[in-house]
Amino acid sequence: MQHKTLTQFLVEQQRREAALPAQLRLLIEIVARACKAISISVNKGALGGMLGDIGSENVQGEAQKKLDVIANERLLEANEWGGHLAAMASEEMETIHLIPNRYPKGEYLLLFDPIDGSSNVDVNLTVGTIFSVLKAPEDVSGRAVTEEDFLQAGTRQVAAGYAIFGPQTLLVLSVGTGVYEFGLDREMGSWVMTQGPLTIPTGNREFAINMSNERHWAPPMRRYIADCMAGKTGARGADFNMRWTGSMVADIHRILKRGGIFLYPWDSRDPAKPGKLRLMYEANPMGYIVEQAGGTAFDGTRRIMEIAPNALHQRVGVAMGDEAEVARLMSYYAEDP
Ligand code: AHG
Ligand code: MN
Ligand code: MN
Ligand code: MN
Repeated sequence: MQHKTLTQFLVEQQRREAALPAQLRLLIEIVARACKAISISVNKGALGGMLGDIGSENVQGEAQKKLDVIANERLLEANEWGGHLAAMASEEMETIHLIPNRYPKGEYLLLFDPIDGSSNVDVNLTVGTIFSVLKAPEDVSGRAVTEEDFLQAGTRQVAAGYAIFGPQTLLVLSVGTGVYEFGLDREMGSWVMTQGPLTIPTGNREFAINMSNERHWAPPMRRYIADCMAGKTGARGADFNMRWTGSMVADIHRILKRGGIFLYPWDSRDPAKPGKLRLMYEANPMGYIVEQAGGTAFDGTRRIMEIAPNALHQRVGVAMGDEAEVARLMSYYAEDP
């Protein structure tokens, strides 16, 4: 069987009635190409001097890995010259990255988490790259882009996706018409469709959470997990399984394939941080993918994609995946606000 390439898929999307704009198609092709370059660096590991910390901290207060910085650079370089972007923002940069004056300025804003799950890099476990695309406000062509231009709700995303660097390198993408998966064919050097549209299977009793934070969670969160842990004789009347990879990309990818729920809830460790995960680089793009695959994404009380952001590096509690499981957890929060 002849598989469809990413390019063919995007051309088809461009020919639809609600056509994918040419600039957005170029943007996705370029991000996908940068993900190939990141995949090569990730695969080199120690042989390419890719492992370990770089000795600096990012704006999140995390020790930066060499690959965090390398992947960030790859995405910046790849996306500067194409004329499709007005500016970029990243987990690894304190503020936004403007397009240099020597290149034309485009209509879109690109946000990314260059390496998600970067603590996995040095131990040869799965990592990923997450991206989110917003439309820049109409008037940016005549003025400098600002951080405020990025502070748009997730519902305004026009595309989002991730690359996952696991046993296989895959690209999972949505332009608002369902979720499609592409595998990297290294002999051809191209992304080839392997599945889609993806729908999250329902009813899988499997949760993903870092259990070591249990004592910090809010009561509704503790109740939800306690019910799952109680097994057949408890409130849920069923045994649950648990998985936690330390990489949101890997956990969400598993949920897209076999169902379940992903949780990184608000906790009481640091009152200044409502959750660990970043709204703009993690929760919104992954929420977009999950919703496009028939799931839901909430922060405890609100749909994540409807949150009006107030800062580029804003953090948020996250519950996403199987609609019924997220709804149950939300009902616990509603009963005990
Ligand atoms: P990043 O590597 O981009 O900073 O993101 C790591 C995130 C996410 O991918 C993962 O689900 C979570 O942090 C893991 O956190 P814990 O180490 O607290 O389990
Ligand atoms: Mn990080
Ligand atoms: Mn991340
Ligand atoms: Mn990261």
